[in-house]
Amino acid sequence: GKDKELIRGSWESLGKNKVPHGVIMFSRLFELDPALLSLFHYSTNCGSTQDCLSSPEFLEHVTKVMLVIDAAVSHLDDLHSLEDFLLNLGRKHQAVGVNTQSFAMVGEALLYMLQCSLGQAYTAPLRQAWLNMYSIVEGAMSRGWAK
Ligand code: HEM
Repeated sequence: GKDKELIRGSWESLGKNKVPHGVIMFSRLFELDPALLSLFHYSTNCGSTQDCLSSPEFLEHVTKVMLVIDAAVSHLDDLHSLEDFLLNLGRKHQAVGVNTQSFAMVGEALLYMLQCSLGQAYTAPLRQAWLNMYSIVEGAMSRGWAK
């Protein structure tokens, strides 16, 4: 319905520039919780947060995250087909020391990025549509974490 149209419509342009939008998202995430930076074992190679965010390893993770979002957008009609992948992804994050509250913070950072990037097009229904979709992703990752 309406949610899917709002998500697909907004992702059409953002999804073509995954890295810069992902960088906005992770800059916000590290602002919300600077301690998350140290969970990336390669973070010791960089000085400031901005340095880290321009390093190849970080940009690779940013890209990975954006590709997961891209997959969710492409599978809006059957998000549940991503369940096993997301459970496993949650488990992998548990192994690297990321907790489930941090998954929720990524959601806040995602909304922040959408707000910055979409400007006027960032409306309450659009925000809610993205929140609903991300909650499903977060929920599956968190269930994988707990297993
Ligand atoms: C892998 C950290 C959130 C997607 C990793 C790794 C770390 C990490 C340390 C392993 C090293 C690497 O591949 O770069 C974090 C932190 C997060 C976070 C601190 C903040 C909460 C997310 C989210 C997604 C995601 C929300 C997707 C929606 C991935 C993927 C991998 C990965 C696809 C590769 C897994 C594999 O090797 O199969 N993450 N991550 N991450 N992360 Fe994250």
